[in-house]
Parts: sequence; structure tokens; C-alpha cells
Amino acid sequence: MKQKIIVTGGCGYIGSHTVVELIENNYEVVIFDDLSNSSSETIDRIEKITGIKPTFVEIDLKDELATNKAFKIHNDAKSVINFAAHKAVGESVQKPLMYYKNNLYSLINVLSAIEEQNIDGFIFSSSATVYGTPNSLPITEKNETQRPFSPYGNTKKMAEEILDDLIKSNKNLAAISLRYFNPIGAHESGLIGELPTGVPNNLMPYITQTAVGIREKLMVYGNDYPTKDGTPIRDYIHVVDLAKAHVLAVDRIVKKEQEEAFEIFNLGTGNGYSVLDVINSFEKVTNSKLNYEITGRRPGDVPQLFAAIDLAKEKLGWVAGKTLDEMISSSWSWEQKYRATHKS
Ligand code: UD1
Repeated sequence: MKQKIIVTGGCGYIGSHTVVELIENNYEVVIFDDLSNSSSETIDRIEKITGIKPTFVEIDLKDELATNKAFKIHNDAKSVINFAAHKAVGESVQKPLMYYKNNLYSLINVLSAIEEQNIDGFIFSSSATVYGTPNSLPITEKNETQRPFSPYGNTKKMAEEILDDLIKSNKNLAAISLRYFNPIGAHESGLIGELPTGVPNNLMPYITQTAVGIREKLMVYGNDYPTKDGTPIRDYIHVVDLAKAHVLAVDRIVKKEQEEAFEIFNLGTGNGYSVLDVINSFEKVTNSKLNYEITGRRPGDVPQLFAAIDLAKEKLGWVAGKTLDEMISSSWSWEQKYRATHKS
């Protein structure tokens, strides 16, 4: 019999790619999503890719009663992967309470429901933002966390602290927090990908939207950083590689292979690429010129972030396989395919 996994935020960017990988690895998936930053069209697209339509529950996880009810119905789930959260850094600076409410109320409701229903596995969608400005590179999981620059980032740090306390108090519960570096790319089918609402904050969607003609020009935020070409360095990771790591984390929990009740893994490639590397790769892959201009620094950006990836390799048996060119060409295919049928 298939093992059931609940995926909150399963219609979103990383969530939808993870749902596809779970289904392809023979898990039964139930999606809980409020569609606040996604569309139910994604469910049909997941079905097109996998041949299986996941169960979908439209639910606001800030609503404690509704959350309890939904978890009660699906209390045979083996584990929960929690993607449901707001994620726009700039918006979180403008509306901190909206972020603390949404990201933390929903987390607490989900964790309470899991305890109540004796579901014993939880996987959390965290971020390298919890490392702040790192003191040493590459960043290992042992690097100290710092208060992130944005309320969004702080919800990730606080969520990990909540989880740490909870796991110490509940011997039946096991959790894994996955700290993503910079997820980009899209599924090879071109049917699912990143779809930011409004003006993108992140580099990759800004590049593809500029190339497709929705944005006029990419602003490169600073070329006076202490890096090889002066632009900041990040560890870009293909979303499908990232999704596969979630399946391995679920396997680890379901098979009770954890060495500690709360484990944390970095998910990156271990390679650092500058903003100009990304632009150059985009121009090479698409054989076109990108309209961009160097401008001033963006507040909160750090010069360099890239992951030490040994722990995920050793414990999860996971290594990211896709190259920067593959990431970029899949982002571009998705953008083009999506815009062919959707105007904006
Ligand atoms: C950002 C968030 C991080 C979050 C992650 C999600 C900040 C400070 N950090 O990471 O908390 O987890 O997104 O994916 O916002 N860039 C440009 N022009 C643009 C956009 C970006 O030059 O229009 C540059 C940035 O200066 C940066 C690099 O591209 O050097 C990557 O930026 P971005 O994609 O926004 O990711 P991060 O800032 O690393």
C-alpha cells in the first residue's frame, strides 16, 4: 500500500515539483493549499506529468479549527512536508505582521494538529537566509545562525527554533529542516515552474521576464563586492534536484533512519556563481542578449553564499546533478511555454 504524505503549499513552486517527485516515487500525496500565491491549475499540470491527480484540500492553515479537521481526515499520513508560507523578502519588510502571522500561525496550527493526530514525521522548508552574513565559507550546518535581515527570513529561523523545542518535548516526533540555497529552474515538461506574483524579487524570474518582454531591463544590484567580477555569488540549485532531496528526507523519516530526532541539511550544489555568471550563461543558452544595467547595491544582500554539501550526501545520499546551464535553460523553457498561453 502507498504511504500517504501531506504536502502543505503543494501548489507552489518548490511544493509542486516535490509533489511530482513523491508521486513518481510511489507516495500518495494530499495537498493542503490556500491558493493565495498559486493556482489549482497546477493540480491538472501535476496530473499531466505523472498521470495521477493528487488529492487537493483548499484550506487556510491559519484557521486552527479547519486545520485540525483536515488533519483528522488524513490522520493516516506518514509525514508532512510544510511549504506553506509567504516568501517575498521586500513585502515582509513592509508588512512584518502579515509574515509572522501567516508563516508562524500556520506552522503552529500544523504542528499542533500533527501532535493531536499522532503523525510522527515533519519536514520543514527552510532557507540559507538563517545563516545571515556567514563568518566562513562554504557554509556548513554547524555555522552559527544569525538573525536574518528580513521578517521573512526571521520566520524561517523562528520556525526552526519552534521545531527544535517541540522535538525535545515530544519523543514520538521526528523532523528534518532543509535549508535551501537559491532554487531556480523548472520541470523538464515545462508544465510547472516559478510564477512570482507581481514584480519578481529574485534574479532568475527577473531575467526570464525581461527576456520575454514583461520587464524592460534587469538591474544588477552592485558590482563592487569583493568577488571575482564584483557581483554577489550564490549557490543556485535546480528545483527538481531540490524536490528529489525532499523524497529522500521523507524516506529517511518513514524508514526511521534518523540519527537525531531533529536533523538539518543544507541543499545546494556547493558551487558559487556570480550574477554575471548567471547572465552570461543565460545569454549563451538562449543565444540572445539580455538588457541589463549595473546599479547600486540592494540592502541586505551579502557578498557570497555557498553551501557545504557533505552532510546531505552522507546522510540522505543526495547530490544535486544539474548544471547551471540546465537550470537556466529549464527556467527559460518554462517562462516561454507559460507566456504562450497566459498574457501576464
Ligand atoms: C533571496 C532572499 C532569501 C530567500 C531567497 C529565496 C534576500 C536578501 N534574500 O535570496 O532570503 O530565501 O531569495 O529564493 O532577499 N539580483 C540582481 N537583480 C535583481 C534580483 C537579484 O542583481 O533584480 C542579484 C542579488 O543582488 C543577488 C542575486 O541576484 O546577488 C540573487 O538574488 P535573489 O535571487 O533575490 O536571491 P537572494 O538574495 O540570494
